[in-house]
Amino acid sequence: MALRAKLLGTGRAVGPTCLTNDDLCRIVDTTDEWIVSRTGIRERHIVGSGDDLCTSDLCTEAGRKALAAAGLEPSDLDLILVGTVTGDCKFPATAVFTQAKLGARNASAMDIAAACSGFVYGLELADALIRTGQKKHVLLIGAEVLTSMVDWTDRGTCVLFGDAAGAAVLGPSDDETGVLSTYTKSNGELAELLWAPGCGTLRRLSPESLANKDHLIHMQGRHVYVNAVKCMADATQQAMDRAGLTPADVDLLIPHQANIRIIEATCERFGFPLEKTMINVDRYGNTSAASIPIALDEALEMGRIHKGQVALMTVFGGGFTWAASALRI
Ligand code: UT7
Repeated sequence: MALRAKLLGTGRAVGPTCLTNDDLCRIVDTTDEWIVSRTGIRERHIVGSGDDLCTSDLCTEAGRKALAAAGLEPSDLDLILVGTVTGDCKFPATAVFTQAKLGARNASAMDIAAACSGFVYGLELADALIRTGQKKHVLLIGAEVLTSMVDWTDRGTCVLFGDAAGAAVLGPSDDETGVLSTYTKSNGELAELLWAPGCGTLRRLSPESLANKDHLIHMQGRHVYVNAVKCMADATQQAMDRAGLTPADVDLLIPHQANIRIIEATCERFGFPLEKTMINVDRYGNTSAASIPIALDEALEMGRIHKGQVALMTVFGGGFTWAASALRI
């Protein structure tokens, strides 16, 4: 049995169309000044309707890069996990389409519906399966094309989201590197503050549900904001406690990239200087489940975190779900 799961390689893929704040000013009543000051977002990369790409295409691109970085073949994978709430179709899972596109014939594949927290939820699962020896090599992906469910007349949500996939290949570790702790939590009592209620069994597809825009994202932003600050603090503290770490032991904080003010509140709460924090919300917006893994991949690429150092990932999303993990690279 392995001591824990460790990171073998990472990769990312982002939507091919760049949408700036000025572009959004032509769609809804907003300004670059409002978006930057209230969210920190300057541009996002989306899958436009003419781009002819679906979520599993982004997963496949990110997954291929992560496998190359790990020096593994698709046939080496035992399991593919995709955290997403914007899959290719209602069923089967986006993970199986990704499996087929990669040609990962030896793997089982399934999705995790934990909204923005999907990647860290998946990390907890992958770590447990690798520790027990049930699986050896796991491809874990967080992927979202949330702009496919955005109400482009709602200025409170349409300025926030981008489309991307971030991938990590995980394998067994017998040394001090790898997953030091995970923490996951949910509160379904507050589900309706951030959801897309339509097209399932709750509100079936009908002319009325389409007219109500039930299939699109509905968010009570201020309530979500308050809960995000509170829950990301809880997750960060829990992941540090479980790994026996203090903020001084963390080399890089990788927070969910939803809003710069939420990130700043988390840093302030624990005394993390902003230079020890990965921030890319300005370039990608909120990419939900892809947010943490694309920030992790960029941090490694930019040399913001090195082998032997500790990254602390912390996230909050619809559900509500929240989660954190300490990872020694
Ligand atoms: O990833 C999952 C978790 N999601 C989040 O973490 C999102 C959390 N929420 C937020 O980030 C913030 O609540 C938002 C960025 C969505 C909104 O910021 P806010 O400071 O909470 O604004 P608000 O919703 O309280 O709205 C303040 C004002 C309103 O106008 P009035 O009623 O005061 O006249 C809004 O209509 O700002 C207005 N507003 C806008 N104005 C210009 C809302 N959206 C816009 C906009 N441009 N795009």
